[in-house]
Amino acid sequence: MRTYLVTGGAGFIGSNYIHYMFRKYGDSIRIINVDCLTYAGNLENLKDVADRENYEFYKVNICDSEAIGRIFAENDIDRVVHFAAESHVDRSIKHPEVFVQTNVLGTLVMLNAAKAAWELPDGSFREDKKFLHVSTDEVYGSLEEDGTFFYETTPIDPHSPYSASKASSDMLVKAYIDTYHFPANITNCSNNYGPYQFPEKLIPLIINNALQGKKLPVYGDGKNVRDWLYVDDHAKAIDMVQEQGRLGERYNIGGHNEKQNIEIIHIILDTLQEMLPDGDPRKELVSENLITYVEDRKGHDRRYAIAPDKIKAEIGWYPETMFKDGIRLTIQWFFEHEDWMKHVTSGDYQKYYEEMYQNR
Ligand code: NAD
Ligand code: TYD
Repeated sequence: MRTYLVTGGAGFIGSNYIHYMFRKYGDSIRIINVDCLTYAGNLENLKDVADRENYEFYKVNICDSEAIGRIFAENDIDRVVHFAAESHVDRSIKHPEVFVQTNVLGTLVMLNAAKAAWELPDGSFREDKKFLHVSTDEVYGSLEEDGTFFYETTPIDPHSPYSASKASSDMLVKAYIDTYHFPANITNCSNNYGPYQFPEKLIPLIINNALQGKKLPVYGDGKNVRDWLYVDDHAKAIDMVQEQGRLGERYNIGGHNEKQNIEIIHIILDTLQEMLPDGDPRKELVSENLITYVEDRKGHDRRYAIAPDKIKAEIGWYPETMFKDGIRLTIQWFFEHEDWMKHVTSGDYQKYYEEMYQNR
């Protein structure tokens, strides 16, 4: 039975990945989830799998090298899938330190622990051990509105403290591949959306605000472009890269699904109107009049767009979920999980929202 060590599995993509893996492999794999439960980590995301015999959770910070070393020593780990990170650009602009701590130094701890557990006395690595570092397209910087794309060979050019910290961690993984022939892959994915996404990110924030008749904050002119991917497609890509990718390679993941932020907001409003039943009081609240242009994000990247040619040609992965379907699935999930939204937006979220949006 293959044993996975997943870091950051209580967050948005990590929890979707764990669900995906149990749907796909059932009892034939074991997953150990390591997460220190920051504001973004939520065990409610995993309550459906918490009682499985082939699932374990450790509340551990990835910067704690002793605790991480112990987990490797006590378990014969076959796969590491490393999601744990601080992931929100706006937070990184206000508080960059923790991004360097977790994203850079935490990744170094994970690399060292896996290397110590997997390296043989002659410097080679035990067979069939693999590390996958989950990264972002934001490390490539910003594109013009000129139809160009990010390729795996595009020079790294991060602009925000978040993307700089992710680029640094990518480079550390690459250094371990190049120096030690460490058995790893790096994936650089575009913006994800779907169930369990924390409402600091654009799509869940807009859904949540619209349903309450609250302002929909649009940074700058609303014409920044992101390439949106449904989170299950990302989970599938990660698994395919880890099992079928060439070790040591980087793979871009994304879907030729570029949209301006303002388009996304209009699609959400239209879809909410379609999906809310007549007579539902929220239908009256959901309106274009809520759209409010606010001060732009500092250093706001204009456009991201992935060329997924390599992963398609070598591995056969392509995005399966059309945006119009994925957004309906996402909204349906939020309709069915009102309590989840209430829990994550109580307490500290209010403070965050005021700090981030009050003077914008
Ligand atoms: P998220 O913020 O929802 O979740 C991050 C998780 O990591 C949380 O559960 C948090 O508790 C945990 N964590 C944070 N610091 C930790 C630490 N020091 N030790 C242990 N656990 C810690 O993030 P996400 O959106 O799920 O992103 C997951 C990964 O995917 C990140 O590495 C991110 O850079 C990458 N990524 C995200 C997107 C996106 O659109 N969200 C796109 C491409 C790549
Ligand atoms: P976000 O979801 O934070 O992802 P990222 O910055 O990592 O791409 O933001 C997506 C886009 O939406 C980005 O261009 C910033 C913009 N945005 C808004 O216009 N208003 C908001 O309230 C948020 C959170 C984001």
